[in-house]
Amino acid sequence: MISLPFSRQSFALEALVQAHCPELADLHAPAFHHAWSEEDFAGMLSQGNIFGFIARPVGKPGQSAGFVLARLVAGEAEILTIAVSSAFQRRGIGRELMEAVLRHLHHERAESLFLEVDESNVAAQALYRRLGFIQVGHRPAYYETEQGRSGALVLRRQFQQKIVLP
Ligand SMILES: CC(C)(COP(=O)(O)OP(=O)(O)OC[C@H]1O[C@@H](n2cnc3c(N)ncnc32)[C@H](O)[C@@H]1OP(=O)(O)O)[C@@H](O)C(=O)NCCC(=O)NCCS
Repeated sequence: MISLPFSRQSFALEALVQAHCPELADLHAPAFHHAWSEEDFAGMLSQGNIFGFIARPVGKPGQSAGFVLARLVAGEAEILTIAVSSAFQRRGIGRELMEAVLRHLHHERAESLFLEVDESNVAAQALYRRLGFIQVGHRPAYYETEQGRSGALVLRRQFQQKIVLP
């Protein structure tokens, strides 16, 4: 288990493994219109190119606060999902989860990271823009929500890679 202490030492990140799947389903369900099941997460985590992190309050081993799941294929990565439970929001956990993904991708020499975000999701858009994402596309009526269909913004964060000439 990898445990990385971060801001104010009150939460720690663990790299995702199969044993986390029940917690991931519990964190995902209240955050999204279409909940992903434990089996959905198990299937995704069995793919070698999907990775992520879960955040826990330090000293409370059974409790989880949020997680992020991402995929890296041939230098191009995407955020599959991210959720922080409402009781733990606005404490820097979403940012720490995203920064853990960015560090991993930098280490893996990824070229770019893409994600889709509901155009009405002000909180997530603010988080992503602070991390250097810019809008590169728009998918109209992409999400089905309780209020009807909603468009998606496609955002991208590029990594600076030094090209070393022979
Ligand atoms: C989006 C989400 C992951 C953010 O997690 P979080 O832990 O609350 O975010 P952080 O505390 O790290 O916030 C980092 C920055 O994002 C922005 N932000 C986060 N929540 C915000 C909100 N409700 N309103 C405006 N800005 C917000 C702010 O710039 C914030 O920095 P600040 O607190 O210094 O002002 C969380 O709101 C969530 O799980 N939402 C439901 C699921 C979801 O929408 N996932 C994204 C799908 S694309």
